[in-house]
Amino acid sequence: MFSIDALPRTDVHDSARPLEAQITASPGRFRVLTGDRPTGPLHLGHYFGTLANRVRLQRAGVDLFIVIADYQVFTDRDGVTGLSDTVHDLVLDYLAAGVDPDTTTIFTHSSVPALNQLVLPFLSLVTVGELQRNPTVKAEAQAAANGHRGLSGLLFSYPVHQAADILFCGGNLVPVGRDQLPHIEITRLIARRFNERYAGGRTVFAEPEAMLSEAPVVLGADGAKMSKSRGNAINLSDDEDRTAAVIKRFRTDSERTISYEPQRRPEVAGLLDLAALCLNRPAAGLAGELGNQGSAALKALVTEAVNEHLRPLRQRRRELAGDRAQLSRILAEGNRRAVDIADRTLNRVRAAMGTTY
Ligand code: TRP
Repeated sequence: MFSIDALPRTDVHDSARPLEAQITASPGRFRVLTGDRPTGPLHLGHYFGTLANRVRLQRAGVDLFIVIADYQVFTDRDGVTGLSDTVHDLVLDYLAAGVDPDTTTIFTHSSVPALNQLVLPFLSLVTVGELQRNPTVKAEAQAAANGHRGLSGLLFSYPVHQAADILFCGGNLVPVGRDQLPHIEITRLIARRFNERYAGGRTVFAEPEAMLSEAPVVLGADGAKMSKSRGNAINLSDDEDRTAAVIKRFRTDSERTISYEPQRRPEVAGLLDLAALCLNRPAAGLAGELGNQGSAALKALVTEAVNEHLRPLRQRRRELAGDRAQLSRILAEGNRRAVDIADRTLNRVRAAMGTTY
């Protein structure tokens, strides 16, 4: 039977030791909250950028929570279709990559009422100006203005919702890319202000820390960062033939000799990086071995490396895909755990705020 300690986890901060050493020595001190918005299948950029790191942390014995941030999908689009399939496919990607649902909690935040209720007290702790200054909100507001659209209230407040995702379960470590750092800052601000304003300085919420990953940037077919919206991605769920077809489309240059020069030859370097990640070997060494064989040989190497690396994952994915009921059960169990924790957190919040009647 899965059971979770009461909140809060203590602050992580222990500047005397590097974070990785702390994780190895005492994984039980860490609760990692991380997540994705369910907008489509995961690709190699997600895999090498975050997913592999999550599985690594899980295997190190860290308590891992993965939020499927379904409400966030509604922030910037009018209608959303097929969300249930997208969410099930996301769970499939997680499990295939090695996420273990017995120890890791996978949940959809729309299924956890008390998590969402935290958004209201949290909104009372930030100003409109602070939200306007959040870089993502600012960029989205600008894009909306340029397109003569309105900015939804949900988008405007989404950093606060994200704070609720993290704080409801006492997450104290959040692996993020640089672009998400301002959200962690708002989360810390909310935790601090809650403790000061509503809890007389007691720690109801510990301030989480960002775990900045030196995750590699994976480039896609057009030489830009791999992303679903650019249509340049290799998905985990693609089969080997489709993977080969996408890699054929990757841009290269006309120089016959393969060399690893990220500044001068970014597309060739991007392909070498991908092979290097899959083979766990240095990119420059691979370039040296290819010598003057040209980009066809480079692409053959990358195709083989990617397909080989993903073979066990894809095999597991196919096996699990046949049993949708099992995926639903896993989500239901994750949601049940999240509801249990969120209810307890909301009770503490109610007690602190004096809203118990
Ligand atoms: N905003 C994140 C993204 O777009 C997803 C997300 C939602 C998240 N809630 C979170 C990430 C909490 C970390 C912590 O990818």
